[in-house]
Amino acid sequence: KSNLSNITVLFGGTGDLAKRKIFPALYHLQKGGDLPQGFALVAVGRRQKNHQQYREYIYSFMEKEADFTIDKEAWEALSQRIYYLPFHFDDPAGYERLKEFLAVLENIYQTQGNRIYYLAVAPEYFGLIVQQLKVHDMDRKENSWRRVVIEKPFGKDLNSARKLNQIITEVFEEKNIYRIDHYLGKEMLQNIMVIRFTNAFFEPIWNSQYIDNIQISSSEQLGVGTRGEYYDQSGALRDMIQNHMMQLLTLTAMEPPIRLDNQSIRDEKIRVLRSLEELSQKTVFENIVRGQYSAGRIDGKPVKGYREEEGVNPASTTETFVAMKMAVENYRWVGVPFYIRTGKRMPVKSTEIVVEFKRPPEVLYFKEYKNLQPNLLVIGIQPKEGAFLRFNAKKPGTIKEIIPVEMDYCQNCQVEQNSPEAYERLIYDVMRGESTLFTRWDEVEYSWKIVDNIERAWRRKAEEILLYPAGERGPQGAMELLQRDNRKWWNILGG
Ligand code: BG6
Repeated sequence: KSNLSNITVLFGGTGDLAKRKIFPALYHLQKGGDLPQGFALVAVGRRQKNHQQYREYIYSFMEKEADFTIDKEAWEALSQRIYYLPFHFDDPAGYERLKEFLAVLENIYQTQGNRIYYLAVAPEYFGLIVQQLKVHDMDRKENSWRRVVIEKPFGKDLNSARKLNQIITEVFEEKNIYRIDHYLGKEMLQNIMVIRFTNAFFEPIWNSQYIDNIQISSSEQLGVGTRGEYYDQSGALRDMIQNHMMQLLTLTAMEPPIRLDNQSIRDEKIRVLRSLEELSQKTVFENIVRGQYSAGRIDGKPVKGYREEEGVNPASTTETFVAMKMAVENYRWVGVPFYIRTGKRMPVKSTEIVVEFKRPPEVLYFKEYKNLQPNLLVIGIQPKEGAFLRFNAKKPGTIKEIIPVEMDYCQNCQVEQNSPEAYERLIYDVMRGESTLFTRWDEVEYSWKIVDNIERAWRRKAEEILLYPAGERGPQGAMELLQRDNRKWWNILGG
């Protein structure tokens, strides 16, 4: 059994990600008894705080924001093992203090020198921190494991991603690098392949003969919150499409892997990325819509527009919404559009994949009932997790009426069936050295190529951004993108 004991050094300890995702995950691991005995965490951040203040800071955030009630005992057990060290990431003296402190903790917690360096920081610091770890001789130790977790976005374009990768691979071996795409940790992403490849009635019709189009949507109610500064440099294309949406797309479109090991699966995913149609300048503008939220209402409450958010340039043309039409140019998918959209400040939070099947031949019932609905398979990623099938049946008690009916499998609707949070799974996997749910370098590389191509076209007409009021499903242009093709967006689970 692998030795899970470790000290996790969390760079970016006061950041949004730490508070919103990493600590809740650690808390659940603690509560479920999955954290090893030998474990402590040292958070590094720029703000001045002592250990106790930091623990309280995390607690009060979670108490206010988390969607679960905190069990005091579990929290106490975790919080005792949390430490805080303030320093600037570019300050060499800080790393020396960290090194000394880790030596003390390693003694107390008996962690055998195993460490996770978790970089939950803005991407411009990744390289710097990794180099500092090397300079201060903290990157490796005989008979111990040292792993580095890199949050997304991995670079801001292909060039910076390559440079970053070079710096990181000069310090850490590939097998010790864990590039996070937290969507891969979500239960239902792991389920896409199972649903596709273990059901006799899905895989045979999973192609252009039977499928009309596929829609992948991920909407959020949240705005940019306190991350304005980062987000304004990034935008939805880099923040969501380059990573999470590409993962959803590749898992939906890929061929069955020859084996279920992580290399074979990743190989198939890469092939999907390689078959994505390369968009020209012109098609970028025809097939991709960029939007930005203006002031509006979420759940009836007024919220600011993007340009008024803290840290955002008041004249910003950064997109908070993207809708795009893509083609996977291979034998299976010829002629089937993949519509992808993601946005902040949408009316509901929902991530779902809708597979719309082709209509039956226009004879018999179809002829008589013009408004017959197409069959849909919806894979609910979040918050509702499951699969939902819509088909046509006779309306009971009528002679001729036909209605769409539903079969609905929800895997997290019952309270006791709560799925583990993505970060729980991923952090645990890093501790046990399991890398299947992390992205391989070539996946990152290909998806940046695609995104760079789009960015290049956009840069020429940056001002062409469509505004949408917060609380709406994006700009009108996103609806038109499908109307043009005589289709419409389905909002099934997040309807
Ligand atoms: C992150 C993005 O990767 O994913 C955020 O940087 C976004 O902007 C988040 O809010 C969405 O994650 P989830 O799990 O809430 O869908």
